[in-house]
Amino acid sequence: MFGIAVLISGRGSNLESVISAVEEGWLKCRITAVISDNPAAGGLGLAKEMGIKTHVFQGESVSDSILSAVKEHTDLIVCAGFLSILRGALLDVFQNRIINIHPALIPSFCGSGMYGLKVHRAALDYGVRKSGCTVHFVESGIDTGPIILQRTVEVIYTDTAEDLQKRILEEEHIAIVEAVKLISENRVEVKGRKVLIN
Ligand code: GAR
Repeated sequence: MFGIAVLISGRGSNLESVISAVEEGWLKCRITAVISDNPAAGGLGLAKEMGIKTHVFQGESVSDSILSAVKEHTDLIVCAGFLSILRGALLDVFQNRIINIHPALIPSFCGSGMYGLKVHRAALDYGVRKSGCTVHFVESGIDTGPIILQRTVEVIYTDTAEDLQKRILEEEHIAIVEAVKLISENRVEVKGRKVLIN
């Protein structure tokens, strides 16, 4: 069975949507591990409740520790709100096999330091009429890898960053599961910067 490891730093609502899709049989995958760089991440509790193996890795060697933990039985690594930057051998061994979800339409409002509410504040301050989320492959640059899919939401004049975050999060929950499904069904081909969905 296609094995996925999910990396989280916080509450884990994207993890929850992946777990639900696996439980419902919509994703024909097995979650091999949930890994966090934050021992207080809410999603760790959920993973444990579901009987999924969990790990907490912190510090300089996070990427190497992840690599040792997922070397076997894992086909895809899913960054679902994971804030540490992945580096080194992990990126080579898992080339085009690590995906990330970002709460904006890349290449806008992304890159170093852009996470959580900061992203939505930046989008509102800029005055964009649409924002959304992006699922992309992870490479050494921050948020620069080939884009697999994006979902959009309309920005309403009275939106606060919290309002926008909430509406985009709903789209994230759909997008992350869809991307995992496409990859697990071997329907995604990377051609340079472009991604072909078969
Ligand atoms: C999500 O909105 C995700 O897009 C964002 O963190 C949140 C995690 O929520 N990731 C980033 O900002 C990465 N740059 P969750 O823990 O409820 O899934």
